[in-house]
Amino acid sequence: MSKPETSLMSRLVSLAKRRGFVYPASEIYGGLNGFWDFGPLGVLLKNNLRDRWWHDMVECPPLGPDGKPLSIVGLDSSIIQHPRTWEASGHVGGFADLMVDCRETQSRYRADHIQCIEVFYEKAGETKSLGLLSAMEGDEFEAALAKKAKRLIQKAGGGELMPVDLKAAVLFTNMAKDQQVLVIGPDAETAGTLTEPRMFNLMFSSHAGVFQDEDSKVYLRPETAQGIFLQYKNIIDTSRVKPPFGVAQVGKSFRNEVTPRNFIFRSREFEQMEMEFFCAPEDGMMWYEFWVAERMRWWESVGCRKENLYRHIIPEDELSHYSKGTSDIEYRWPFTTPNFGELEGVAYRTDYDLKQHSEFSKQTLDYIDQEGGRRYVPHVVEPASGLTRGVLLLLAEGYQYDESRASPEWLKIKPSLAPIKIGIFPLVNKDGMPEVAEKLYMDLRRTYTCQYDAKQSIGKRYARMDEAGTPFCITVDGDTLKDQTVTIRNRDTATQERVSLDKVRAYIAEKMVE
Ligand code: GAP
Repeated sequence: MSKPETSLMSRLVSLAKRRGFVYPASEIYGGLNGFWDFGPLGVLLKNNLRDRWWHDMVECPPLGPDGKPLSIVGLDSSIIQHPRTWEASGHVGGFADLMVDCRETQSRYRADHIQCIEVFYEKAGETKSLGLLSAMEGDEFEAALAKKAKRLIQKAGGGELMPVDLKAAVLFTNMAKDQQVLVIGPDAETAGTLTEPRMFNLMFSSHAGVFQDEDSKVYLRPETAQGIFLQYKNIIDTSRVKPPFGVAQVGKSFRNEVTPRNFIFRSREFEQMEMEFFCAPEDGMMWYEFWVAERMRWWESVGCRKENLYRHIIPEDELSHYSKGTSDIEYRWPFTTPNFGELEGVAYRTDYDLKQHSEFSKQTLDYIDQEGGRRYVPHVVEPASGLTRGVLLLLAEGYQYDESRASPEWLKIKPSLAPIKIGIFPLVNKDGMPEVAEKLYMDLRRTYTCQYDAKQSIGKRYARMDEAGTPFCITVDGDTLKDQTVTIRNRDTATQERVSLDKVRAYIAEKMVE
């Protein structure tokens, strides 16, 4: 298995586009940074992951520590809520990044993503500072700085570049405090074109109603969670749940990310799968640990290898003021390897959100515990994951490269999550084979997403299905007409078995539980 030249990420992006998993949004107009569309295979894969989460959270929730099924109900709340929601949640005041703009290039950067370095050059025995160069942190940092330094030296009329000490790199935010320092922006030619860092709110806003003024201003939700807190009282009053219980929601969220990047990892429109678990205050820490373990187990159950998952416990001094404990479930992404990056956050949010909404709405959001004879505001543990990010995990985890196969690039996705479950082919498009294959297709399509394909060589058809991650291909050949058997090819082993036509359904059903 030899390795291709280009990075795994660029191969994933190109396979995703070529096979209709993910396309750049608005591509015919040149695309729109931070927005992606899910194509025919992508939407099937995304829906399968979403449905698995919904099933495992709402329809068949996990067993609690007492061995009994947990009580979790679903919700589908509006993307646009009363604007006071986001004041209460802290998003209006605090959901912001420190940004710098470049007057020369009109680009905007997250201040904590820019790093600076002082560059010196030597000419006729004299060492001179060329000033501060900056570049975006990350893989390209060193190369970008070296290129810039060379350009500056050329401008200065030649000289030798002093070794750039990357360890001396400091965050721009620190340097900017010193007004004497002129920084050259990451994409600029001239020094001093970067503005002072200033706060930039990540929420998209719009207007509801006829008049477009401050009073009609509304926000697209930056997380699905708040909709759950707003309906907490209605759910308690109407669905007979009592703590401990959960409310789960899947849906779109929007964040005007300053630097959307790494394909669908960080986009401006994305989907979340969030659950708020309401419990008695004294049980909060226990449920927090429960949900971290449960969610790690779940990601393994959808096909993520254990060694690619990591629990990152947020240190106490970095916790949000309302959190008593937060762990990020991290995955070893192609662009973070050998390190890990966030896939899901599990936060013990105490009673902060309900108390905030209670104060801002002037509604009582206490729970009256009749049995225990007390009244309290429930505490909340929140497992919050990204559906869009989960799809990227399935693609990255499933991506295989093997030059000995007809399609060197292929996807190993669990059969139950694969976009297409079965490819059905007549070996040749004559001699009675299409009729049998079509009949089989008409039967199996009622239960599984199938694709009928009679074009090109059988090898090419297998290759196409491997690239799409299709776990099984059924071929009707000359023997089928004689003995009523077909071949079933397994994507992972590329081996074939002969199975009688009347046993095909049972064969597939057994494998599909994986
Ligand atoms: N309610 C808590 C909350 O929203 P978060 O850590 O900001 O927490 C939860 O988001 C998850 O949503 C993240 O772990 C990630 O999987 C996903 N997510 C957040 N921002 C995203 C973005 N810009 N693009 C794609 N996924 C994102």
